[in-house]
Amino acid sequence: MNQITFDTRAAAQFIQPSEWSAIEPQVSAAAKLLERRKGPGNEFLGWLDLPVKYDRAEYRRVLAAAKRIQKQAEVLVVIGIGGSYLGAKAALDFCGHHFYNNLTSKGRRQWLGKNLPEIYFAGTNLSSAYLTHLIELIGDRSFAINVISKSGTTTEPAIAFRLFKKILESKYGVEEARKRIYATTDSHKGALKTLADQEGYETFVVPDDVGGRFSVLTPVGLLPVAAAGIDTNELLRGAADARARYKSAPFESNDVLQYVAARNILLRKGKEIELMVNYEPRLHYVAEWWKQLFGESEGKDGKGIFPASVDFTSDLHSMGQYIQDGRRHLFETVLEITDPGAEIVLEKETSDLDGLNYLAGLTLDEVNKKAAEGTRQAHLDGGVPNLTLHLPAGTPYHLGELFYFFEKACAISGYLLGVNPFDQPGVEAYKKNMFRLLGKKS
Ligand code: PA5
Repeated sequence: MNQITFDTRAAAQFIQPSEWSAIEPQVSAAAKLLERRKGPGNEFLGWLDLPVKYDRAEYRRVLAAAKRIQKQAEVLVVIGIGGSYLGAKAALDFCGHHFYNNLTSKGRRQWLGKNLPEIYFAGTNLSSAYLTHLIELIGDRSFAINVISKSGTTTEPAIAFRLFKKILESKYGVEEARKRIYATTDSHKGALKTLADQEGYETFVVPDDVGGRFSVLTPVGLLPVAAAGIDTNELLRGAADARARYKSAPFESNDVLQYVAARNILLRKGKEIELMVNYEPRLHYVAEWWKQLFGESEGKDGKGIFPASVDFTSDLHSMGQYIQDGRRHLFETVLEITDPGAEIVLEKETSDLDGLNYLAGLTLDEVNKKAAEGTRQAHLDGGVPNLTLHLPAGTPYHLGELFYFFEKACAISGYLLGVNPFDQPGVEAYKKNMFRLLGKKS
């Protein structure tokens, strides 16, 4: 089937048929609350229809800006944090070459048929070493900036932007620097919006009704992704198809509702931690994006499933022991990619000193999939329920489906838990202390 699918078969021993019937009316009620836009935070539901209802003219400007960046810069610095960073990073890694930045520009051109800039992220931390090394890495190469902040006031990206703006201005002069800065922010408020208007930067809007962690399919995610030569039309098409599918399907055949139900049944049995598992490195940042989405949306009022992630098989050699044998408060959601996008066949060697000849003739992916099968069985035997999301391939289309799948599941799950999935009051606590310690005037 050429679409993502969700599968609860490997959790059957942990979820009784009666539990599905018991939770079904609750999940359906939460879904209705979302569809009818009657739940808390309903002023932030713009993402629900985003794949089909977006500003076409602005989208064309995004694509044109991406082309301009490809022409004007060897390096694009994307500045943002949280929802203004993770979606783009996830998409670049999921759809792109694993060593995108390390390829020569010729290598990137051969791979995607275009001149593509190296892309680095800044504003994701307050590390002086990280920023210094990034500045060193860019050196005297041409660069452009995409600064992204919905509020326009977040400290980490604001500091990084101040630094890179200055470098850009001293390199090109103020006028030329302005043509190399692309700002993605609120339509009317915030320091970044004021600055962008004053300086005349090309500006893109994070819609008022779309919160940061739900903003990947707005210019927040689309501009960096398009600059990397990834097909954003496909990303949006995948999300649009997912929207149509999950809007109309009944509980039994609606993968979003099934996922919401399964994870909440497991939570009620003490499975308080959801481990997002992958066997392909391209999925690492998809899990990081997912962690922010679910962590910030559900983790409030003393409630929520703790979202964590592991990269297998590497983490089987570090976290494997705990998962197999530690406290039984975990369940796993495994992201499985059917077609890994490359093939390596293992060959026979005459000496067989490493003892691997028994694998000769198999592809590495077949070995990977057996590792996944063996792990699933071991974890089930160890009392860890497994849910599975099958992805046909690492394409923009399937990533679009996946983004939408998780966004919708997250909103419904939040309502099921009885929280407002669209606010994040807890994020302010550290900021207040930091500003007080730094002597910021309110
Ligand atoms: O989901 C959210 O709203 C937050 O995590 C934000 O994405 C994050 O704090 C960055 O905010 P901003 O885009 O306003 O700089």
